Amino acid sequence: MNTRKLSNPSAQRPSRKGRRFIEQAAIFFRGFIENPGMVASVIPSSRSTIDAMLARVDWQGCRLFVEYGPGVGTFTTHILDRLPADGKLLAIDTNARFVDYLRETIDDPRLEVVLGSAADVERFVRESGHAGADYIISGLPFSSLPATVAGNIADATYRVMNEGGAFMTYQFKPVARELTQARFEQIETGLALMNVPPCLLTWGWKHKAQTAREVESRPLAAINALNR
Ligand SMILES: C[S@@+](CC[C@H](N)C(=O)[O-])C[C@H]1O[C@@H](n2cnc3c(N)ncnc32)[C@H](O)[C@@H]1O
Repeated sequence: MNTRKLSNPSAQRPSRKGRRFIEQAAIFFRGFIENPGMVASVIPSSRSTIDAMLARVDWQGCRLFVEYGPGVGTFTTHILDRLPADGKLLAIDTNARFVDYLRETIDDPRLEVVLGSAADVERFVRESGHAGADYIISGLPFSSLPATVAGNIADATYRVMNEGGAFMTYQFKPVARELTQARFEQIETGLALMNVPPCLLTWGWKHKAQTAREVESRPLAAINALNR
């Protein structure tokens, strides 16, 4: 019998990282039991989903990153790991248990956690001292939200986004992708097969919206160019 291993208390206890994982899973599961419609998943997103989603962000140019539905912080710490020193992360969640947990466990001056709905993102962004967001990632269960709430959140997201920025979603159902496609100028898609269950990844990029005058004058400009 290997007594050395048994007599070493640290060999029997899970590591700090392991303890945090167990703690997060327990709080997330409790949040799901209390509010199944709002949380809509029993387990947090996988590491491969997190890496795939965040790989397309231009971190150097990011001043304000917004996270909808951070839950127990599955994405939050990874966003902070990549965010520049002068960047800010605004995390918005309707669940007070998750908000308290994030405030108690993540000590980072770049993080602001607010209790409220993503539908009020414009007000939260203004209150945080910014004119717009560079990136917004959403863990919201769009398919469980009432259609008008989902549409209002997507509208507010487009309005508050800075040009060149992206709205990013990871969802089991295509609702978030459809809402993004209907509003954003450029769409990129992916599939996270290793997630449980696998999920659809979508990036909606906001580009300069063309005014009606610009669209109208385009054929004229082409004719003028031919006549030159
Ligand atoms: C599926 S969990 C995602 C948790 C985490 N981001 C992850 O990837 O594991 C959905 C989260 O959205 C939050 N939520 C639901 N409706 C919301 C709303 N309207 N505004 C902000 N957060 C909301 C829930 O409280 C929950 O934390």
